[in-house]
Amino acid sequence: MTETPSRVDLTTITSLCKRRGFLFQSSEIYGGLGSTWDYGPLGVELKRNVKDAWWRAFVWGRDDMVGLDAAILMHPDVWRASGHVESFNDPLVECRDCHQRWREDQLSEAKCPACGGELTEPRMFNLMFETYLGPVKDDASIVYLRPETAQGIFVNFSNVLTATRRKLPFGIAQIGKAFRNEITTGNFIFRTREFEMMEIEYFVKPDEGEEWYRRWVEESRRWYADLGVNEARLRVRDHDPAELSHYSIATSDIEYLFPWGWGEIQGIANRTDYDLRAHSSGSGEQLTYFDNETGQHITPYVIEPSAGVDRAVMTFLTDAYTEEQAPTASGKLERRVLLKLHPALAPVKVAVLPLSRNERLTPLAREVHDKVRRSDAIRGLVQYDDAQSIGRRYRRQDEIGTPLCVTVDFDSLDDHAVTIRERDSMAQVRVPIEGLVAAIKERLPG
Ligand code: GAP
Repeated sequence: MTETPSRVDLTTITSLCKRRGFLFQSSEIYGGLGSTWDYGPLGVELKRNVKDAWWRAFVWGRDDMVGLDAAILMHPDVWRASGHVESFNDPLVECRDCHQRWREDQLSEAKCPACGGELTEPRMFNLMFETYLGPVKDDASIVYLRPETAQGIFVNFSNVLTATRRKLPFGIAQIGKAFRNEITTGNFIFRTREFEMMEIEYFVKPDEGEEWYRRWVEESRRWYADLGVNEARLRVRDHDPAELSHYSIATSDIEYLFPWGWGEIQGIANRTDYDLRAHSSGSGEQLTYFDNETGQHITPYVIEPSAGVDRAVMTFLTDAYTEEQAPTASGKLERRVLLKLHPALAPVKVAVLPLSRNERLTPLAREVHDKVRRSDAIRGLVQYDDAQSIGRRYRRQDEIGTPLCVTVDFDSLDDHAVTIRERDSMAQVRVPIEGLVAAIKERLPG
């Protein structure tokens, strides 16, 4: 498949996100905090929908998966045993002239990208944030903000196994915050220091590791495609041996073609039995599985699909952005901006729009809004909007990706019917108010 470049640049998507309330710079009134972002009223809906879609696909949609929600703060020995205290480092260099700091492995030349100055020798910089547990700030009270959710799953392996009596292969899924004191951040919400992850640790018999690894690469890639991401902007990239993390024998990244080029949105790693063995020796608890068929205790291999929630949000937003020429009510062609988001992800599912603000129309439009909003069949926001012309309101809803608008007009007072307008085709269909919820449901897959 040929590469299809993104249709939008980063400035356009960032300004749409701010203007329409998807994302705001964190602590903006104090000048902002570098590379941290707050999800606004629409962003929070989109992000929830992304996480729900993932949970539906990988937990509720399968019979080999259970969920977990482990604490962010963990015993510091967890991070010693996992290798993070020792190895979760990036090589840091500093410019001797302008004192900007860079990740040496991301530089194409051995000079400062900002001013061309000479760089210091690299030193290893640990990415884990430290904080203190309790009132005394000493070395004994240091704890870490987790840089991945995975370790919370490994240390609960035996608890989950005992509680659920699972047989191999099975997985434990978790969604939660992670923190990394990244040396360089940027590209909006692509690389930040606080972010959210959707991770699965999938436990298999060691000799089935390779097969499950390949299956998970394909299933992970397909999840984005099933939610509408253009497959020409998705690719799988296998890591070179030199790139592998300390725990992995094979890793593949799912990459998306962002406005600045290809970027990792998810990694799938074959972590072997590294983690369960590390925590067995670190804690003294045997994290093994009793195989009834062979009568032996084995240490399962782990296949880990690990996705960033914020990078998924960024992917869906960027991929959905579309500009086209569309006819206005008077037939003139006008630029139309729309987010072609999958309906399962759209922050607003339906907008109810009276043709105009009018004392006869408003009560009926409000009634229609209540009926749709309160229906259990529609999972998500249903907005009411009666400000400005109907054309402008359609454009406003298009720009935030609302799949359906319901228009209540003067004929509705007599025929008790309304018009459903579909976002992408702009096709309109008249339906009786009585059957409106069913008609909406039919048009909103997921
Ligand atoms: N447990 C495996 C693990 O942590 P990773 O490749 O370091 O693997 C997994 O991270 C995913 O988390 C990445 O593919 C990316 O989507 C997301 N991610 C990693 N660092 C990030 C950051 N600084 N900002 C936003 N997302 C990040």
